[in-house]
Amino acid sequence: MQATYQRWIEGQLAGRDLVMERSEIVSLFVKTFPEATLLDIKLIDDEIRTNLYQTHKRFEIDDFILCKCKKVTQSTVKIHLPNAKTLEELKACTQAGTGCGKCVPDLESLLASHKPKPLRWHGEAHSVWGERVQTSLDLWNKRIDKYPPLKVKRFDQGQVVVEVDGGLNSDQEWDLSTDLSAYLAEGFPEPLVVFLDFAHSSAKS
Ligand code: FES
Repeated sequence: MQATYQRWIEGQLAGRDLVMERSEIVSLFVKTFPEATLLDIKLIDDEIRTNLYQTHKRFEIDDFILCKCKKVTQSTVKIHLPNAKTLEELKACTQAGTGCGKCVPDLESLLASHKPKPLRWHGEAHSVWGERVQTSLDLWNKRIDKYPPLKVKRFDQGQVVVEVDGGLNSDQEWDLSTDLSAYLAEGFPEPLVVFLDFAHSSAKS
């Protein structure tokens, strides 16, 4: 292939966002170099195919025009998914979906598939376990009045942070921690690790 053609195609492919399809680059080449032979065109076509293939491999992305109106590829949309929490944000940063709207369902399903899955413990979401621990604490709060009210602050893989609404001295804190761990040892698939949060309490000495 002539050096001029080689330089032209390298310039075309450098930093390309994969938006332009192979056939479009070839058409542009033919318009730019009407004197190019059929062999030159074939070589250019091969070069583009190889370049795009390597780019796809590098990013491990699949490439096709997802939004035909704005010529935005699925790979471009995927690159922007981490920066977009909503459909409107995804449209704003990619321009996909801002034409006829036919591709919007595809954009929505890509957004949905990218949402982080809720963390699970023994097959159920942390939020479910958090509610169960809170139900146990509600019973505790009704029955035991020697401690201030308790509330679940966070649940994470069997570890629960319990907020204590009131001050305790260090002995009382120790007693509460022991009593609560024993109380929560039942009714759960395995004993919970309990941390007490006195951040809002004014501890008495
Ligand atoms: S195909 Fe995406 S807006 Fe028309």
